[in-house]
Amino acid sequence: MISIRNSTPSNIDGLDMYRLRQLIKFFVRPIRKVLTLLIVEPSVLQPHISRQIWHDTNAFRWAAAYIVKNQIEGDYLEFGVWKGNSFIEAYNQINNYSNTFYNVGVKATGEKNMFVDMKFHAFDSFEGLPETKNVSNPIQYFAGNYSATEELFRNRISDAGLDMDRVTITKGWFNESLNKEAADALNLRQIAVAYIDCDIYESSVDVLNFITPYLKTGSVLIFDDWFRNKGISSTGVQGAVLDWLKSNPQITLQHYYNCDTRTALFIVKINCENQTSNIECV
Ligand SMILES: C[S@@+](CC[C@H](N)C(=O)[O-])C[C@H]1O[C@@H](n2cnc3c(N)ncnc32)[C@H](O)[C@@H]1O
Repeated sequence: MISIRNSTPSNIDGLDMYRLRQLIKFFVRPIRKVLTLLIVEPSVLQPHISRQIWHDTNAFRWAAAYIVKNQIEGDYLEFGVWKGNSFIEAYNQINNYSNTFYNVGVKATGEKNMFVDMKFHAFDSFEGLPETKNVSNPIQYFAGNYSATEELFRNRISDAGLDMDRVTITKGWFNESLNKEAADALNLRQIAVAYIDCDIYESSVDVLNFITPYLKTGSVLIFDDWFRNKGISSTGVQGAVLDWLKSNPQITLQHYYNCDTRTALFIVKINCENQTSNIECV
């Protein structure tokens, strides 16, 4: 029988080459593991981020890069904030990216970074999901799931170092709390990024109707649950978006990016020729 190991020169000063390789692997493997983890999963460096929300990191990185590179003005709005993980992540990604890249590649003008005063608005019932009529929802989407108190949310985002002067929190069920009075109280003018993470058709309909007047060409919409409709595009978040687009022919969405197992990002375009509302368009 031929042994491959023995058929190649295998001894260096009496040390078996095979054993030497094994020894090197023994020491290098853990180092490689740690390096891979840090490169592929940078969120391990930031304690408030768990591995489960890696998709959020990814989504916000793409949104941040897009709005900074295109100087998209407006606020960040998040519908469905739960314990604040994604809210913190969005805040950090947008701030980090704009601080690092705002003036890169342009003639230095000394211009103030337009994102330093950006406002971050949080909306939630803080009582979890409402009842839904949609029977084909994924099993996680039951009434009361994802409840967390407003106090917990506030403490977590404050502990994470967010500038609370730039943050607003609106508590309530979307069908009651999302209206013109609320928008005026927040001094809402235009949306740079809206993160819609409220899981179900009914909640998404309320959110989409609320944000419509504040969308501009270039606004980014992130739908966390885009791919949770079991392929039935008349239901779930996709269903809500398609119905909304039908009743708002002045709006088209340009697909921008998919991330992780369920999230999709889109860029808004307001079509002036179909203008039927008071939305400002270009
Ligand atoms: C999946 S959790 C959000 C997770 C959070 N964005 C994160 O990644 O950490 C969904 C949230 O949407 C909220 N929500 C869903 N429908 C709502 C509605 N109609 N009104 C108010 N809040 C709602 C729930 O209370 C819950 O906090």
